Amino acid sequence: SSISNSIANSSYSVNTRTRTRKMVKAVSLGDPLLAEDQDEAVVVPSDHLSQQALVPSLRDYLEMYKASIQDPGRFWSEIASQFHWERKWDPDHVFSHNLDVTKSQVHIQWFKGGITNISYNCLDRIVESGGGDKIALFWEANDPGSDASLTYKQLLSRVCQLSNYLKDIGVKKGDAVVVYLPMLMELPITMLACARIGAVHSVVFAGFSAESLAQRIIDCKPKLVITCNAVKRGSKIIHLKDIVDAALLLSAQTNVSVDRCLVFENEAAMKREPTKWQEGRDIWWQDVIPEYPTHCEVEWVDAEDPLFLLYTSGSTGKPKGVLHTTGGYMVYTAITFKYAFDYKPTDIYWCTADCGWITGHSYVTYGPLLNGASVVVFEGSPNYPDSGRCWDIVDKYKVTIFYTAPTLYVTRYSRKSLRILGSVGEPINPSAWRWFYNVVGDSRCPISDTWWQTETGGFMITPLPGAWPQKPGSATFPFFGVQPVIVDEKGVEIEGECSGYLCVKSSWPGAFRTLYGDHERYETTYFKPFPGYYFTGDGCRRDKDGYYWLTGRVDDVINVSGHRIGTAEVESALVSHPQCAEAAVVGVEHEVKGQAIYAFVTLVEGVPYTEDLRKSLILTVRKQIGAFAAPDKIHWAPGLPKTRSGKIMRRILRKIASRQLNELGDTSTLAEPNIVDQLIALADC
Ligand code: WT7
Repeated sequence: SSISNSIANSSYSVNTRTRTRKMVKAVSLGDPLLAEDQDEAVVVPSDHLSQQALVPSLRDYLEMYKASIQDPGRFWSEIASQFHWERKWDPDHVFSHNLDVTKSQVHIQWFKGGITNISYNCLDRIVESGGGDKIALFWEANDPGSDASLTYKQLLSRVCQLSNYLKDIGVKKGDAVVVYLPMLMELPITMLACARIGAVHSVVFAGFSAESLAQRIIDCKPKLVITCNAVKRGSKIIHLKDIVDAALLLSAQTNVSVDRCLVFENEAAMKREPTKWQEGRDIWWQDVIPEYPTHCEVEWVDAEDPLFLLYTSGSTGKPKGVLHTTGGYMVYTAITFKYAFDYKPTDIYWCTADCGWITGHSYVTYGPLLNGASVVVFEGSPNYPDSGRCWDIVDKYKVTIFYTAPTLYVTRYSRKSLRILGSVGEPINPSAWRWFYNVVGDSRCPISDTWWQTETGGFMITPLPGAWPQKPGSATFPFFGVQPVIVDEKGVEIEGECSGYLCVKSSWPGAFRTLYGDHERYETTYFKPFPGYYFTGDGCRRDKDGYYWLTGRVDDVINVSGHRIGTAEVESALVSHPQCAEAAVVGVEHEVKGQAIYAFVTLVEGVPYTEDLRKSLILTVRKQIGAFAAPDKIHWAPGLPKTRSGKIMRRILRKIASRQLNELGDTSTLAEPNIVDQLIALADC
């Protein structure tokens, strides 16, 4: 059969099992043209898998896809009807939108007038339909051997207790709640408790610094902050409450004061006693929440009422508060989860993402629970105590669907429970794909290489396992209702085989509705570059068979291990250092992290560049943004290559950073062309 052919033709076979992640990445580094050669190399799903798949063939997909494009109102109404609505939306206005800034303000609405609650749909609906005793969350602690679980019924009770507390202290529909928690079960519990009472959660990844947290608090002015005293990450203990204290101090200086801080005592990391405490403001979760009733009426909300804010980096300025609303997001995350992972009620699902990122919002919490799935929530890191941890967890919980960033590990466990693999966050190149497929999945699990963004709410371009042949490295075809278009520099749509800027025509239910407090920036960033379309910021190629191949960001956004970082943010952190005069940050390819951060800095006159200064520059970035944004390389520069009008030529800096010195291109338009030679000479200092 063709599946065995494709394995026979692939460069890896079963005896490559011990190949390490590093080697695989090294093999696959580099040449984007490699993808071209892979157009023909398809991997065909097995008959067994296809026959049982929700969408068993390309023909079935095309039929559904066509229906979703021809009559989106009808298509999405049918899907939305699977959920509980206190009141239905207006059937004549399932959606309304304007994406064309040149006409009028951009707006997107889905199921307006429909009244529902996502927390009710995740919990009560499942319990009422007989799923109450099914495990909702399997929790695996940082330290092996420590775990817990909650059934849907138990999860509902926990959520209700917190909702009751929130209501009791005066949190109302529309109020913001900032959540700074690691991957404890209390994180999804908090999200669902906020949603239950119509409060808007703003989860901040617990790896962000006090300054970044403060920035987000100042922007959304929450009624309270929910955190825990400390967390163990690998063998390290991180005092999250101290970070929150510092953030609240910084916010107070900007006149944003938060009266309440609810602190979960994470005993495994630290007992409560040493925790610094502000009487009157701080309160222990365990002291109050268990006292509250386990039943709480939901607050029914409009489909277009906000559900959450999630800050993400852009190419300029401060982080943007991406706002998602209730109804469309609910329908979209549920249905993308179901189809892209070919979800069956017997599946055990594990997504390695943290709820501090969109992947955790849509595909740890909402999407899976809306489907009544059993979800593994993992507190720790994949390489603690060793690199076998992931497979240990897969075997322990008999995980059938495993969704992760394309970071690969050594295998030495059985993993025989696996059925579907998922990949997200960065382009997975063909050889890494093959490794994931052949080694991790033993050549039997299809890979859903899901392309999407914080802004899109859910999957946009993704394989449907079983439905069609896959091409390693391609995210394949659009999800139902999604109309990707590739445009040229002028914004003209290109048909057929081509490459260019990836945009989306029309709206889909999961789309974000605005940037919190800055609708103008929403329009400028996403809708002005190519009027009439949503601009993704990604480059993309479509091959002769219509498969989409994502080629990475085309703006000044770097993607480090699937975490999005704006070069402007890192630059502004660097220049805040008193001895740094100017900074220019670019991304360079990195064999493990996908991209690494490479910073060129010029110093204040008379300041010598020393090892201490290098360290202190890096520390500044860690403090202002978070450890994950620390530059991998600081390149001391006597000056930066600029045009005569003063614009930094990043193109040249990227070439210097990646040591592609014979591809510098035309440097004659530079104000001081000899700067380039100086930079090259200093590259390895
Ligand atoms: C950017 C969005 C939403 C997932 C987590 C990251 C890149 C995401 C893929 C993929 C190639 C991908 C894009 C995108 N990206 N998934 N399967 N193949 N690139 O969310 O932080 O909003 O970043 O991640 O560049 O624009 P995010």
